[in-house]
Amino acid sequence: MFDRVLITSGPTVEPIDPVRYISNRSSGKTGFHIANEAKKRNISEIIFITGPTCYLPSEVRCIKVETAMEMRARVFENIENVSVVIMVAAVSDYKTPTYFPHKIKKNSEKMTLELEKNPDILLEIGIKKKDNQILVGFAAETENIFENGKRKLAEKNMDLLVLNEISKSNPGFNVDTNEVYFLTPGEIKKLPRMNKSDIAVNVWDKIFDIARDKKIYERQF
Ligand code: CTP
Repeated sequence: MFDRVLITSGPTVEPIDPVRYISNRSSGKTGFHIANEAKKRNISEIIFITGPTCYLPSEVRCIKVETAMEMRARVFENIENVSVVIMVAAVSDYKTPTYFPHKIKKNSEKMTLELEKNPDILLEIGIKKKDNQILVGFAAETENIFENGKRKLAEKNMDLLVLNEISKSNPGFNVDTNEVYFLTPGEIKKLPRMNKSDIAVNVWDKIFDIARDKKIYERQF
């Protein structure tokens, strides 16, 4: 059994001015189910760090954030002694370098918004990962999905990447089902289309398998 796990969920929201922001289509459903499944597996401490979403698990320590920078800060404040990190959050890749304190007016026909990269939280966790920690990431791709997935798995030092192809038949966002692949170093496994709650069950089963293979906490099994 794991003592302490950290799950991120939802989108992040990057403000532009007092009325506008940059975000994405993540609903937070998958992260919600991953947290609920963790509760069923008697994990003593579940830390749930989430961007804006209405899917908040009960009886779990929820830390609400807005921006990627806030999510990063809360993650690194809480990561000590965590056995499993599951980065479900759809972290905004870019933010505006400056926040406009007043509403931007439509004074010109065209406008250009400058964006700068957010830090990659999963990459940073992967660099610092200890041998007895398990790191899980999620990725949604529209093309070259396995090539991109394998690269991300290695670059970010993940033990498991939950990968899905975004298409008309599998929108992934804001729906209750998804069709995903499990990428681990050396293996690609396709799961049939299933409810996100069942994906959560499969993700936790896989995490327990990885823990056994890595001989982490073998005393408890
Ligand atoms: N992620 C993160 N910090 C970011 C961006 C992404 O921690 N700034 C994490 C997400 O939580 C997810 C994984 O990285 O677990 C996949 O992110 P994704 O955006 O699909 O992949 P990228 O590596 O950012 O590559 P790209 O956007 O170019 O496809």
